[in-house]
Amino acid sequence: MIGIIGAMAVEVERLVEMMTDRKEETISSVTYHTGKIEGLECVVAQCGVGKVAAAVCAQTMVLIYRPRVLINVGVAGGIGRDVHIGDVVVSRGLVQHDMDTSALGEPKGMISGLNRVVIPSPPELVEKAARAAAAVYGRRVHVGIIATGDQFISDAETLKRIAAEFDASACEMEGGSIAQVCFVNGIDFVVIRAVSDNADEEASVDFTAFAAEEAHKSAELIAALLPQLADS
Ligand code: ADE
Repeated sequence: MIGIIGAMAVEVERLVEMMTDRKEETISSVTYHTGKIEGLECVVAQCGVGKVAAAVCAQTMVLIYRPRVLINVGVAGGIGRDVHIGDVVVSRGLVQHDMDTSALGEPKGMISGLNRVVIPSPPELVEKAARAAAAVYGRRVHVGIIATGDQFISDAETLKRIAAEFDASACEMEGGSIAQVCFVNGIDFVVIRAVSDNADEEASVDFTAFAAEEAHKSAELIAALLPQLADS
């Protein structure tokens, strides 16, 4: 079983449409769609926006459906001069940029219970995801740190801080939470996001213009990746 989570309807609807033998079940207000995509058993859910919603969904998915791999799909704000709208960012690792116990002497982003800042994705899974992205779109694919927090970032100053503190290539609002759930449950995960905006002063305008189109593309990319996960 492969688990796939997106925050918004546009991030998962194409995947649900692709499913055959589809069934659904709603638990704690989240609907889990099970069925086959590209011949592989999958469970797809729209978790809602933010870290708590993502954690509720991911942990439930893990306990009920026992996925061996969990993929978080959707859109993100691109960080840095090289990361443009329409590019794809695959997670080398996830950080939670709003986790801050630095007043107690810990580094910014430290997840105290885990004693780590970055939760890494398995390199083989990252490579498969990056290869699928490049093959499908021939577009720019970045493998990097994705920074998660409970804010839609839309100013250059916050963006600069996140970039400097975590060397991040993208920001979004769920991946780091899903990574933490996967880490404590020993499940492989990767986050694959298409860039909908540059998290700057134009972010809300760009997000409104590009999020749906980019979200659909990232969902289609998952369909291209799935056959490679058949025996992993
Ligand atoms: N998802 C897409 N764009 C984003 C942004 N600028 N900040 C946080 N999450 C996002």
